[in-house]
Amino acid sequence: MVPGATNGSTHKNGDSLRHVREPLVYSGSLDTFNSFDVTTVIGREFPDIQLTDLMSSQDADKLLRDLAIIISQRGVVFFRNQNIDLKAQKELTQRLGELAGKPETSKLHVQPLYNSPDNTPLSDQGDTDPNGDTDPNVYVISSKSQGKLYKSMQHRMTVSAASAYWHSDVAFENVPADYSFLRLTRTPTTGGDTLWASGYEVYDRISSSMREYFSTLTATFAQPVFKRSANDGGFSIVSPRGSPENVGDAFEVSHPVVRTNPVTGWRSIFAVGLHCKEIDGVTPYENRMIKEYIEYLITHNHDLQVRFRWNTNDVAIWDNRSVYHTATPDLIGEREGQRTTSVGERPYFDPASTSRREALSEELV
Ligand SMILES: [Fe+2]
Repeated sequence: MVPGATNGSTHKNGDSLRHVREPLVYSGSLDTFNSFDVTTVIGREFPDIQLTDLMSSQDADKLLRDLAIIISQRGVVFFRNQNIDLKAQKELTQRLGELAGKPETSKLHVQPLYNSPDNTPLSDQGDTDPNGDTDPNVYVISSKSQGKLYKSMQHRMTVSAASAYWHSDVAFENVPADYSFLRLTRTPTTGGDTLWASGYEVYDRISSSMREYFSTLTATFAQPVFKRSANDGGFSIVSPRGSPENVGDAFEVSHPVVRTNPVTGWRSIFAVGLHCKEIDGVTPYENRMIKEYIEYLITHNHDLQVRFRWNTNDVAIWDNRSVYHTATPDLIGEREGQRTTSVGERPYFDPASTSRREALSEELV
């Protein structure tokens, strides 16, 4: 039985607070399938499931809603050797977000650099699309063509520590991602593992007084590389991008440092990594201290991380609201895949939400 989220929260003064959104409760429909937790804190693998079987089941809505809940609770879920095609992948990504209760206006995210002449066609990935088309909702992850598309990032890629690339997908949008779905269609001989880290657990490793302070803060997320790439390449940024609120080419927005996941009702630290420009309203030194402290918690605690070694057609689906991830730039051979990303809700902090550990320990009582 997967632990469900608690339905309410009582604070120290005894007052019961109402959630902004009631957490979802897992019905148990996926308990009949083989699964194991990859680490104690984060990650689960279903070795025997074909996602297409869940989608065509009579109980599809129930199964997929439960799957969304498990992804939100465990942070990332893995499936091996999937037969799912791109059309079904797009459908499933959107459906997970919908079944988990995202706003009606939220659709699949649109790749901002879709108009780039350097956008990688799907046919470069082998058998997925014989027409060589591109798809605005699909991010082609390609070790071969990434350098062309993100010209201005090339220098950084060669001089920064690998740990500098932890991020949550499209956190620079006003309405960022809930679920991302990545399938690798070509895997390198060696290397190219992806790592995820639990934002719930980062929050749980912070002292209660510091947590309270962090809960009062927001951070600015930004990604200037898109505008630079569009200017350099002479093409326009795509807009809107999966939500009427995701428009323009500024890619700069404030989000809460502590974010509540509406599916679990658990708090996590959201202000992390690549897209997090600065903590708002603090001195430059405090900004550096806070960001380094959060990065320290991620990089010095490998027991809140999970590392996945890919085989061809393996799939990972994760909840960007509460986990971060990073690729490993140590490839021998080529690595290609396709990512679809569901746009969720505007990030918020719910004072009635609890930490993951608090919620799970309440259930054991
Ligand atoms: Fe990513």
